[in-house]
Amino acid sequence: MPTILAIESSCDDTSAAVVRDGVVLSNVTAGQGVHVEYGGVVPEYASRAHQRNIVPTVEVALRRAGVSGADVDAVAFTWGPGLIGSLMVGVSFAKAFALARNIPLIEVDHMQAHVLAHFAEDPKPEFPFLCLTVSGGHTQLVVVHSPLEQEIIGRTIDDAAGEAFDKSGKLLGLPYPAGPEIDKLAALGTPELDFAQPDPGGLDFSFSGLKTSILYTLQRKAREEEDYVRHHLNDICASIQDAIISTLLRKLIAASEQTGLSRVALAGGVSANRELRQRLEATGAERGWQTFVPRLEYCTDNAAMIGVTATFRYERGLFAEQSIAPAARL
Ligand code: KG4
Ligand code: ZN
Repeated sequence: MPTILAIESSCDDTSAAVVRDGVVLSNVTAGQGVHVEYGGVVPEYASRAHQRNIVPTVEVALRRAGVSGADVDAVAFTWGPGLIGSLMVGVSFAKAFALARNIPLIEVDHMQAHVLAHFAEDPKPEFPFLCLTVSGGHTQLVVVHSPLEQEIIGRTIDDAAGEAFDKSGKLLGLPYPAGPEIDKLAALGTPELDFAQPDPGGLDFSFSGLKTSILYTLQRKAREEEDYVRHHLNDICASIQDAIISTLLRKLIAASEQTGLSRVALAGGVSANRELRQRLEATGAERGWQTFVPRLEYCTDNAAMIGVTATFRYERGLFAEQSIAPAARL
């Protein structure tokens, strides 16, 4: 019955969770408003905000779980991928906590954890299943054979899906991260513009051409109509969202056909997108898929998914080395 304190600090969310025997007792996340006006995450600001937030976030997570530091059996942390300065804060905290209490450390891969967020609560998919992981930094099609056996069968060759949302939003003057904003505005518009949906073939994705396509279309429209973006913002957002989601679903269908898997899951920050969730449901209903989408809290970066993944590693005795170097692995 391990009680695991989990830390996630790979990007711009400082998160701590307590997971006991695979059950999430608390999951506390402190966001960072500082990046909004810069149109993206500023790594130095992110590290400093993690440094300020980490101790209070852990304290609240322990308190909400009704657990004291002495009850913790192991500490889990995200080793990567992520921003080095951000990761260092979480890794250093986890190592210090484990060293002080003489308990084991468990290192967790952030992308593997996004997939295993499905095990934070019911319904949990049976193995094997297919997972589309779409975040700010990654877009992957993964065959999940077992919790720790995840095979990547498709990936983006340039921008990630979340990055496509964020960079498109930046072109429109929307604040960072633009994904949730485009989600909201798109619901009020119609996808009447055709943006390019480049296809690198196979199960891989490419989103970098979308920005150029948006830019050229908007330049052309601006010549035809004054203040085009302001007057048609909702329709532009709906069109951007439609282009991204259509690409994602086309590849997901191809992956399901290729692997024969009909248990299909979504993971990562972009799976918070309402239209993506609805269209996955509709596609699933048409094709006889069993679909799985985590609650919003478990879609974006969170430490509960790190704790759940760490529980699988704990059961298998997969512990990290406790070295003096703050982040030997990085
Ligand atoms: O998984 P995540 O929280 O962090 C990374 O590991 O990257 O994903 C963040 C990404 C951002 O690009 C953000 O714009 C996107 O997820 N995102 C959304 C929505 N909510 C978050 N994209 C589209 N619609 C949303 N509702
Ligand atoms: Zn993430």
